[in-house]
Amino acid sequence: MRHALFRPFSCISLAIRFSLLVFPEISPAASPGWLTAHDTEIKALVARMTLQEKVGQMTQPDLGAMKDLSDIQTLCLGSVLSGGGSDPQSGNTLSDWSNVHQECQNLARKTRLAIPLLYGVDAVHGHNNVLGAVIFPHNIGLGCTRNPALIQEISQITAKEVRATGIQWTFAPCVAVPRDIRWGRTYEGYSEDPAIVASLGRAAVRGLQGDNLAGSQSVVGCAKHFVGDGGTIFGSTRGEGTLDQGDARIDEATLRAVHMAGYPPAIDAGVATIMPSYSSWNGVKCSGNKYLLTDVLKKELGFEGFLISDYNAIDQLVPPTRRQAADLSDSAAGQVRTPDYKKCIEISINAGMDMVMVTERYREFVSLLQELVHENKVPVSRIDDAVTRILRVKFAHGLMGDNPRLMPDKALQAEFGSPFHRSVARKAVSESMVLLKNEGEHLPLKSTIRRIHLTGSGADNLGMQCGGWTIDWQGGQGAITQGGTTILAAVRNAVSPGTTVTCSTEGADEQGADLAIVVVGEEPYAEMEGDRTDLTLNGKDAGTVSAMKAAGLPVIVLVLSGRPLVLGEVAEQADAIVAAWLPGSEGDGIADVLFGKTPFTGKLSFSWPKTMAQIPASRIGKNAPLFPLGFGLTH
Ligand code: BGC
Ligand code: BGC
Repeated sequence: MRHALFRPFSCISLAIRFSLLVFPEISPAASPGWLTAHDTEIKALVARMTLQEKVGQMTQPDLGAMKDLSDIQTLCLGSVLSGGGSDPQSGNTLSDWSNVHQECQNLARKTRLAIPLLYGVDAVHGHNNVLGAVIFPHNIGLGCTRNPALIQEISQITAKEVRATGIQWTFAPCVAVPRDIRWGRTYEGYSEDPAIVASLGRAAVRGLQGDNLAGSQSVVGCAKHFVGDGGTIFGSTRGEGTLDQGDARIDEATLRAVHMAGYPPAIDAGVATIMPSYSSWNGVKCSGNKYLLTDVLKKELGFEGFLISDYNAIDQLVPPTRRQAADLSDSAAGQVRTPDYKKCIEISINAGMDMVMVTERYREFVSLLQELVHENKVPVSRIDDAVTRILRVKFAHGLMGDNPRLMPDKALQAEFGSPFHRSVARKAVSESMVLLKNEGEHLPLKSTIRRIHLTGSGADNLGMQCGGWTIDWQGGQGAITQGGTTILAAVRNAVSPGTTVTCSTEGADEQGADLAIVVVGEEPYAEMEGDRTDLTLNGKDAGTVSAMKAAGLPVIVLVLSGRPLVLGEVAEQADAIVAAWLPGSEGDGIADVLFGKTPFTGKLSFSWPKTMAQIPASRIGKNAPLFPLGFGLTH
């Protein structure tokens, strides 16, 4: 099988092969030596640990689910996470997060062995849960930059903002290779092209973790979701029209060539954790697949860090009987709670899962896993291996020893959301813009223009620019965070004194304008809720474009979206079209390209379909897409 992995591009499209010329070949992987450098000490430590202490290390509750934080001490927990929207009770500022992190660590330090926690968050485009953090473009936009050095710098800044709250672990980068843009997580992937994902995912790991994870400004990274999350089949999951957490029905060569491409480079760069996917491969859930987790990932690819399950993912390993399912109502996450939780634990730990994101059922998990060991259903050697792997990461990160670095660094706090961090995001925004059409050469906008009218749902809407995984799990509309510029504010910042800028997102007041900028797109969403059967641009935005056209104005259309949208008549009506993706908080980066301060350099990271019939990607080949992968005009 090694053979297949290292010749990964045999069965993919020409376009993908073309990009190989630009991106280096995937090289054979193995975790670097620094990850195992403390194994002798770790062996001695594990030998001193009780079963309860070991199982505690393997358990990760959600902050929001813990009624009493002192459980960290009594259960000797090894980790805590804050899932999307799981903010500190006191609030959502830098100091609220620093305080709650500190409180958790203090409790961990009171345990017999005083092993600090790893505190995990989804800092997937900046430290996006925290008010005032700089919000970078989502990965789909970054994929259009084709700029690994920039992605590394962005990840470094994200690491610094995360460390400013004391937290030391982010569930990023997502190295999914989305092949069906109806998937609501498409924007979490850099590209449909595995070579781009491989190159940028590696850069992200380097940026987050630094050379060896030991630096005071590095955080533990997590490549996710292993594997095939972007290859699930439409309708294969929780009902009609959904793909999230679905089934990738593909052969092993394709799984390896397309969907596994991000992992060898991430492992080679030292990624310390990997998250197995909720999804299945040919009907078998990845979270319980021993072949994938142990044989491929750990043995063949030489991954020496640890596996963290996805949010309650192991609960799905034993499907409830029909009768049980009928008796159970769907949980908030749309999952039926399995009654045979103990069996789920047995399957996943034996498959190679090392730490479990149990979120709420952590007490139950801790006692059931100990029972399984006593009943010889989970071998002690497996538990020791899991704990060894977790401790490797804690040692490498400098958390062990007499003076672990647990307090947030004041200097980093002073830089949180700083103008410098925002300037890097602004550059990333500019580089991620893709100019799709420029008829009549209205772009770049001339400084002599007298009056510009902005309209459309995204014209003055920071939440829509940021998308999901921003402040809230599913994101939100409007002024959701502190700092940053909307597109309206950015255009106002950019125009010369003689230019008037008007804006209305409702109704028309474009009279007297020389040109209209219509900012159209998708409302914010994240996993599950973002799955769609129809990606046609919403009627209201499309109507606004027609209205501006009918008023006789040249129309520049900016598309804020987590994936290509089917533009219909707008593709014809618009004089210029810019794919702006989900650029995040720094709208100024958009104005920079609109006004020609920075040239357009972005290239599509996904092919852009003309009709729904061209989705998924495998169907695009038959008819020309509206714009192919790699497309992007310069002025
Ligand atoms: C998502 C992961 C995320 C985790 C923690 C899950 O639902 O699939 O991507 O890291 O939650 O919030
Ligand atoms: C998300 C969490 C979120 C939860 C809500 C999970 O899938 O990852 O971050 O809070 O669902 O049910």
